This record gives sequence, C-alpha cells and structure tokens, in this order.
Amino acid sequence: MKIRYGGDYNPEQWPPGVADEDHRLFDEARIDTLTVGVFTWALTQPAPDVYDFTTLDRIIERAAVAGRRVCLATGTGAHPAWLARAHPSVTRTDFEGRKHRFGQRHNSCPSSPEFRRFSAEVARRIARRYAGHPAIIAWHVGNEYGGACYCELCAAAFRQWLRDRHGSLEALNHAWYTTFWSHTFTNWDQIEPPNALTEHWRGPDHTAFQGITLDYLRFMSDAMLTNFRDEKAAIRESDPDTPITTNFMGLYRPIDYHRWAPHLDFASWDNYPPDDRSPARMALAHDLMRGLKDGQPFWLMEQTPSVTACRDVNPLKRPGVMRLWSWQAVAHGADAVLFFQMRAGRGASEKYHGAVIGHAGRSDTRVFREITALGTELEHLGPATLGARTPARVALLFDWDSWWALEISDGPSRLVKYLDVVTTHHQALWQLGADVDVIAVTAPLDAYDVVVAPALHMIKGDLADRLSAVAARGGTVVTTFLSGRVDQDDNAFRTDVPGPLAPLFGVRVDEWDAREASFVNPVTLLGSRFESRLLFELVIPQGAEVVGTYEADFYAGTAAVTRNDFGAGHAWYVGACLDPAGVERVIREILTRHGLLGPCAGLHGVETATRVAPDGTSFLFVLNHNTAPVDLPPLDGIDLLTGEPAGTLDPYGVVVLQTRPASRT
Ligand code: GLA
Ligand code: ZN
Repeated sequence: MKIRYGGDYNPEQWPPGVADEDHRLFDEARIDTLTVGVFTWALTQPAPDVYDFTTLDRIIERAAVAGRRVCLATGTGAHPAWLARAHPSVTRTDFEGRKHRFGQRHNSCPSSPEFRRFSAEVARRIARRYAGHPAIIAWHVGNEYGGACYCELCAAAFRQWLRDRHGSLEALNHAWYTTFWSHTFTNWDQIEPPNALTEHWRGPDHTAFQGITLDYLRFMSDAMLTNFRDEKAAIRESDPDTPITTNFMGLYRPIDYHRWAPHLDFASWDNYPPDDRSPARMALAHDLMRGLKDGQPFWLMEQTPSVTACRDVNPLKRPGVMRLWSWQAVAHGADAVLFFQMRAGRGASEKYHGAVIGHAGRSDTRVFREITALGTELEHLGPATLGARTPARVALLFDWDSWWALEISDGPSRLVKYLDVVTTHHQALWQLGADVDVIAVTAPLDAYDVVVAPALHMIKGDLADRLSAVAARGGTVVTTFLSGRVDQDDNAFRTDVPGPLAPLFGVRVDEWDAREASFVNPVTLLGSRFESRLLFELVIPQGAEVVGTYEADFYAGTAAVTRNDFGAGHAWYVGACLDPAGVERVIREILTRHGLLGPCAGLHGVETATRVAPDGTSFLFVLNHNTAPVDLPPLDGIDLLTGEPAGTLDPYGVVVLQTRPASRT
C-alpha cells in the first residue's frame, strides 16, 4: 500500500498498440492507478439497445496485466449524440432560456427522465460487467457535476422540491416575502425558475427575489445529487463494497458539497488553481475537501503535470512546482495524487493540455522526469501517511448558503465576494501555520479552541448557540462584517445586526458604508495601522471592548474591530474589510492566546501541516512556496524523503518530518 499515483487515462483516443508504450512509461514513472472511461458513454453504448464493452475490456485488462489498479468511471459526464437526438429532454435549457442541442459535455438536464433512466442503466451495465474485478479499486460517477438547467422539466421538479421544503403555498409565500412586488403565488404552477426571462437582470447574481433564486440554487444542487445517487444505487446492485466517488472542484459555487458529502464514500477533487494566490487558496480547497467526510483522507483526482488548456493564458508549472503542490495535497490529507491526463490527446479542445506522456511519447522530457522523481519518492514513502488525520484545533466555517445569499444580494456591496473574505482569513491561519479544518456550519465544534466564521451571512438552526458554547468554555470565535444578517430564507432578522450573534459578540451595528475599491479607511488595530476597504460597519459596542478604530470620515475614532469577553473565552467582531495584514494581526493575537502558532509562523511562503497516522506517528510537512531557499528554525524529526534532519529548504522544497510516535494518554 502507498499513496496512489496516476490519473485519467483515455487510450480509446489512440490506436491499441500505443498502450504498450504507455504502460512501459507508466512502469518507469511508478504509475499505479488509472482512471478509466470518464468520457466513453458513446463507445460503451453506441445505440439505445447496444452495449459494447470491447474498449473498456481492453483498457482494463491491459492495466490489470501490468499490475495497475483502476478507478472506473461510469462515463456519464457527456451524453452520446444519439441520446440527444432520440430524447431531446436530455439537453439543457440555459439561463437565457435557450434550449440547447447536442454539444460539449457536462450538458445533461438533471431532471430529464430519459437522462436519469439511461445514465443509471449504463452505470448498472458497467458495474454488472466489472464488479469484483480485482483491478478495480473505486468507482468514479459522472464528472465534475455543475452548471444549471432551466427547462420545463426542471421547473416541474423545482415545484415538487418546493412542496417538500415548504409544505404549503402559504409557507412558501412567507419564506419568499412575496407581498413585495405583487408576487403572492396562488397556485404551484405559477412558479417559474428564476432566470433571465423571469426574476433576473444582468445575469445570475442579480435577482428581484433572493429567496426564489436561493431555493433554485439549492434545488439544482440537489437535482444533480439525485443523478449521482441514481448511478450509485445502480452500481450497488452488483458491487456492495467498492468505494464510490465523484470528482469535485474545490471552491465551486454552484454545488453545495456539504449536502453531497454524505452520499460519497470518499471525497475527491480536481485542483486547477486559477490565480497567483494559489498556495494558500489550494490549502483552503484541500482543507474544505478533507472536511467533507469528517477529516477522512481524500483523493487528489486531477491536477495538470504542467499546463492547462482551458484558460486564455496557460502558464507552465515551473520546475519543482508539480512536486510541491502534490506534496501539499498529501500534507492536507490526500491519499492519492492523480493527474489529468496520462497521455495527451491529439485533437479537440484539450490537445494542448499537459500530460504525463506528450504527443511524441518521450520519457526524456523535464515533465516526465519530474513525474518519475515524484513517483519514486511516493514509492519510497510507502504506506506511512495513509489514513493519517489532521489534528486541527482551529475550525473555519464554510457555508454555501451564505456564499449564495451574500453574492445574490442587492446591497450593501457587489464588490464584497464571499471567497475573498474566506480566503483572507484562511490565508492568515495558513501563513501562521495553524492546522485548520474547514467545516460545515452544522458540524460539531467541540474539538476546536478557535472557530473562525468569515462572512457568516446566514444563521441557521442552533448555530448561534453552538458558537456561544465555544466561547463559553474558553475558546475564541471570530466573525466579520456581513455576518448574522439573514435567516434560512434570506430574510433579515427583526433584531439588531448581527442578529442571533449579537449577544455573543456584544455589539450592535445600525449603519454600514460601502465604497468603491479605491477608497481606503485606515484602521488602528492593536497598536498598528492597517487598511480597510469596500465595507465599513459602524460597530456600536454593547459590552465588547474596542480593539480597532477607523481613522477617517465622520465615523473616525469609532469601533471597527471589537473583542467581547464571553464566559471563559472571547468573541471577536471584525466590522471592516481589513487588508490581509490586518486580518493576520487579529488571527495572530488569537492563535498566540491558544498556543497555536505553527513552528514556522512568520516565515513568508513557508507552509506547515501536520498529519497523525492511525498508529500515532506524527508527520510535519514543511513546504517552501518561495523561489528562494529558506533557513528553517530547529525542527524535531527526520525527513522521510532524505533521512536527514531539516535545515535549509530549497526553493519549492519539501520535507516530511516524522516526529516520534505521539504518546497516547
Ligand atoms: C477537468 C475535467 C477533465 C479535463 C480537465 C482539464 O478537471 O474533469 O476531464 O477536462 O479538467 O483541465
Ligand atoms: Zn432541465
């Protein structure tokens, strides 16, 4: 057993003989796992009543002979042309109301009875054929579920979903606040999907009725989950045990992964970081994905070894970066490191996407050499980190409902983005070396000393009480501007802001000022000066101590950041959109109080993460994201990759320190 290494393999795209060359190179690169059949529906089922397993048989047998394991896909991420032709219901209707015809992928209407029937059936047939095959270690259902459909079938399914959620039209009218703008519904049939033809203008985030749009987002996520569950159930008819997953996309807004997670046997995700804040942002996504299944290890299902193709500009991963980011995934809980793609396809939209093996089939390329080197390292590491958990004392709450509600809101500011607020707070924790569980608002909080809840816009259920309990027993809770604003239906509370959170934070907010991005109001905080932008809440302490004040405008000298003593602990309210340095200052204060600063806190661009194996062995991963070497402080343990203690870390360098087995008390 070892960390799985390999990725998406599509030999259906090239002549059979090439596979021999592929497998020879896979041996060289220590590839042990292949994800097969992600887009083979049209080959597996070339006509409504014809199933043809020649291609999958050949690929799976060849892999098995070579001793490799297979993650087998159901192939339903793209439907076949004949299906769209015979059953137009399977294609989607877009946000503008345009009925699509056959084309692209990730293109099926989740509510189409024909899509549901045919996709479940192809999954059933594949499972029937390959269940129990010794090479198969996991099932991969669909691919990167996402997008949305606004067709009549989805409208009907939405109405049914609403009946289940709200029970009666009266309750629905109440939840949606329909006395506004003469919207009272007197029959379920009057309800339309919210799109460009109905409630929206200027795109998906501009809606006249937040409650309607919010429910449609929830419904669409649930509808696609139904598709996943259809196929999972079909697989389970012949394979009761092999774990089933689907590849998520990390920080992906349209799908509420927390609602999906219980239905997956393990989480997996595709890491294609979009911007230059990558290291911290990737760490957040890894922590979120690990949090989906209660901290269990996940799979890095896809990453590019070198370049993507889908962006306007596709930068190359510099030498060492693929290795560094792979170890980062492991550091945050991955038990598999997989690539898209194993060999580069020759045609269509991904022909320039990076691959383990390029078009020419060479092994003497830089990329192949780096892949082989990492394969050798992972082989050398063996089973040591498998199943290891992250011993986090800090939780960061992540909530799709708050994300949606905040970003479809008219006012206070379209410039405040949920992920920006979340990433700034996570980045501070990351930079200071705290291990962080990113968890749902419904998750238990008992294990944490510190709970960070950025932009916790919507308060549902008993969350306010559970946060108060953290502070009461001596922990610290942090929240920010735009928290505690709305209930589960996106209606404001009929109390002071921050609603049910007010007693915990000991503040009241009557007014807030939103400004253009160029406007800065400096905040004096704990003796230093930081910038704040975009949104400025005028915080009125109701017992809380002022720790940060605005410097400018008519509210100069008033509270921007406060700390409330609550029970044995503290509750921090950050009322302004502080710059990253300001957020880091707050987080540093809190981590210091709890003794949670990491061993390399303050070493810029140096990341640390801990995992503890089931036998109690503890691993400290130290990752240098800088282009220059870094001298590390003295650290316990021996680097498993070199057998030496840690000293100076190379540019993009990694050490995996095994500290002594943790003593169990
Ligand atoms: C996604 C998909 C793959 C492939 C890659 C390319 O993650 O799942 O099929 O398109 O992107 O980056
Ligand atoms: Zn539809």
